[in-house]
Amino acid sequence: MDLSERPEPSLWVSRFMHLVRPQGRVLDLACGSGRHTALFAKAGFLVTAADRDISKLGHLAEARGVRPVEVDLEAGAGWPFPGEAFDAIVVTNYLHRPLFPAILAALAQGGVLIYETFADGNQAFGKPSNPDFLLQPGELLDVVSGSVTPVAYEHGIRQVPRPAVVQRLCAVKGVPPFSLEPR
Ligand SMILES: C[S@@+](CC[C@H](N)C(=O)[O-])C[C@H]1O[C@@H](n2cnc3c(N)ncnc32)[C@H](O)[C@@H]1O
Repeated sequence: MDLSERPEPSLWVSRFMHLVRPQGRVLDLACGSGRHTALFAKAGFLVTAADRDISKLGHLAEARGVRPVEVDLEAGAGWPFPGEAFDAIVVTNYLHRPLFPAILAALAQGGVLIYETFADGNQAFGKPSNPDFLLQPGELLDVVSGSVTPVAYEHGIRQVPRPAVVQRLCAVKGVPPFSLEPR
């Protein structure tokens, strides 16, 4: 894929990337065409880009600092990164609930979870409309409770790139305070 074809990064992800340890290890889970892989790799992070179809990464798969991993995350084969700790895990527009414990366990101390995906009510705007792919009210906060410290959480209608109901969370494994603005 031509870099110019890649969708813009989520504003939620770019807003919080400054919390991630510089040059740290980032996991872009269900990375798709790699809009966040590209964002972090360009900023000097080491990015593991995981998806069941990494062909969508195009030339980004060979870019410096990018480790493409083709994996079916729902095949029941277990977490594909045993023993690895990430300074950030980014998940956008993807939900497979059984992965939450492994995602939280794979965060290094000080690691940042940036999550944004569709929530109940999105049926009014189109797909996804299957409840399996829609978070229930407060679910994202509930599922991380006790494992990470929420820095920010929102639930509502997102307008860009098209109207959708989403929940989004940024949370850090460790103890606050964290700098809310880029240094
Ligand atoms: C809506 S796209 C989101 C892509 C990217 N996170 C983004 O926001 O641009 C969902 C992605 O999840 C991937 N996916 C769906 N089921 C998967 C599975 N079982 N294992 C791995 N990846 C999967 C798809 O291939 C697709 O790239």
